[in-house]
Amino acid sequence: MNAIAIDGPAASGKSTVGFLVGQSLGFLYFDTGVMYRAVAWAILDRGINSADSEAVGRVAEELPIGVSAPSDEEPDGRQATILIGELDVTWSIRSPEVDSIVSVVAANSQVRQALTQKQRLIGLEHGSGEAGVVMVGRDIGTVVLPEAPLKVYLEAPLEERARRRFIELSQRGNEANLAKVLEDLRRRDQIDSGRAVAPLRPAHNAHRIQTYGATIQVVVNQILALAEKVLGVGPTSTGNWSLP
Ligand code: DC
Repeated sequence: MNAIAIDGPAASGKSTVGFLVGQSLGFLYFDTGVMYRAVAWAILDRGINSADSEAVGRVAEELPIGVSAPSDEEPDGRQATILIGELDVTWSIRSPEVDSIVSVVAANSQVRQALTQKQRLIGLEHGSGEAGVVMVGRDIGTVVLPEAPLKVYLEAPLEERARRRFIELSQRGNEANLAKVLEDLRRRDQIDSGRAVAPLRPAHNAHRIQTYGATIQVVVNQILALAEKVLGVGPTSTGNWSLP
């Protein structure tokens, strides 16, 4: 199976690094966090209370989430285009409002059941193909694709992750306050790690990589070296991809 599972806490570098690893190997890159974010965005849009677990669970089961490679007409730095039906929610799912409720949504067992199942199917389909898949999230190595031959767990101190998220939000034009970003991340860490279903933790056989003080390229190269050793694959050209 050509599957690389990358897990770690918020802002540990998973999506930046995972995307580049996917590009380099010509693997499908899939950030599973976008699905939880799409559900969080939809319940805000529909005025559903995030504490109403049954209503939130129903949204996760029914929401038509689409993920595809960005087209040439979308040169705005996106890694993927996220659709709900026909609506492009790529950037709106990254808003501070979504940030503030997404961990609660992701702790809902009905939501996890619905989304994990979809993610696993995507992982199995693409991971068993020639191209392979890089899946990024919190529970890929432990729950979604426990059989992935290469598992990576990225780590960085809370203060460093807050600094990165603050810069990211500011660059996108969101008003951000570093102390608040840090507190939000601390709260999200607690919810993601403390939840009953699929809590954030490294798989017993994951390679733990500290990203603090390392450049993105160094971390990418570390994973590419592991991919060569474990999967026997090396850099190649990339193709276009699309998920229903
Ligand atoms: O990686 P992110 O910040 O985009 O993730 C958004 C939320 O979704 C975060 O609270 C963790 C959760 N998540 C999860 O529980 N399991 C995953 N596989 C991916 C994300």
